[in-house]
Amino acid sequence: MYHLLRSLLFLVDPEHIHRFVSGLIRFVAGRPALAGFLRRRFAATDPRLAVSAFGLRFPGPLGLAAGFDKGEGLAGGLYALGFSFVEVGTITPRPQPGNPKPRMFRLPEQQALINRMGFNNAGAAEAEERYRQLAFRPGPLGINLGKNKDTPAERAADDYLAAFEALADVGDYFVVNVSSPNTPGLRDLQAPEALRAILRPLQAAAKARGGKPVLLKLAPDLADEDVDALADLALEEGLAGLVLANTTIGRPTAEDEPAAKQAGGMSGAPLLPRSLALVARVRRRLGSRLPIVGVGGIFTADDAWRMIRAGATLVQGYTGFIYGGPGYARAIERGLLERLEAAGLPNIEAAVGLDADAAPVVP
Ligand SMILES: Cc1cc2nc3c(=O)[nH]c(=O)nc-3n(C[C@H](O)[C@H](O)[C@H](O)COP(=O)(O)O)c2cc1C
Repeated sequence: MYHLLRSLLFLVDPEHIHRFVSGLIRFVAGRPALAGFLRRRFAATDPRLAVSAFGLRFPGPLGLAAGFDKGEGLAGGLYALGFSFVEVGTITPRPQPGNPKPRMFRLPEQQALINRMGFNNAGAAEAEERYRQLAFRPGPLGINLGKNKDTPAERAADDYLAAFEALADVGDYFVVNVSSPNTPGLRDLQAPEALRAILRPLQAAAKARGGKPVLLKLAPDLADEDVDALADLALEEGLAGLVLANTTIGRPTAEDEPAAKQAGGMSGAPLLPRSLALVARVRRRLGSRLPIVGVGGIFTADDAWRMIRAGATLVQGYTGFIYGGPGYARAIERGLLERLEAAGLPNIEAAVGLDADAAPVVP
């Protein structure tokens, strides 16, 4: 059914469709009774799928990745579609329009997207108001933080701190995003010294707010050794976890499509081998000391199962949801339950990292 609808939707510019679908989701978000009704149909709630991580309880392991709800207050409608948690943002302290359109492109043959949105969002104050009014909230709300495009790199730390301070009361966990390819210079903040300058004041502020968990989201384009160094740094700085990974500036397997030449970050199926390899690598290095949120190319229950067995405590999807439609979360969480039973495991947490030592997947 969705496949039929999708062929029609895919005839229209992706951002127009996003706006149309967002309107429907916003309608549901504003009606908690309707959202609850839908969630009972769209969520595969089962106590064996529940996950505890960084002091929070997640009803299931699958969340919606950052970038769908960029502070617009859609989260209520996304929980209704079965996601166990929603990460909103990236949110910057001040509003900004993002890059000129078009800035989002489909690569259907590859089951991928390329975007160069550039952190279009209404700013932290506006987002705070929207999430304060969030009436339907059956799982944790993550808030992904960024810097404004016109803030110089030397003052980046002030932006992360300002966005955090504005949103601290409405988010359950926070993610430092230094890995989007569409803000010039942003990924340079992944250099250890630049990163420490951001993380230290932020961690102090998070502590003062009752120990709100702060995670770090990395780019899949980092060299393996740099990922190792940043995983160690995350541990040293007392972060709550890592989100692996963001979109890639590489073009794995997609050179033939005209849209592949567009500038921006690629997401979707071509990312899965790299995100799996990254998750397994960090899991091998840090063991269970730091929870990992595995993201990049999760389309099916099998993908999510492999990501969890590679070492992800939680998983997220975005592009798979665009291609898979409203049944995406339910299909994955149901499928995970089946795999759990087939493997004879008592709960999903028992599957985390089972394959971290297996032969690495070739990226
Ligand atoms: C259109 C679009 C916008 C995105 N915006 C953000 C963002 O603002 N902040 C962020 O951290 N990640 C953003 N992402 C990256 C996703 O959160 C995710 O890390 C990436 O897409 C890989 O997952 P996927 O293959 O399931 O899409 C965006 C992705 C897409 C497709």
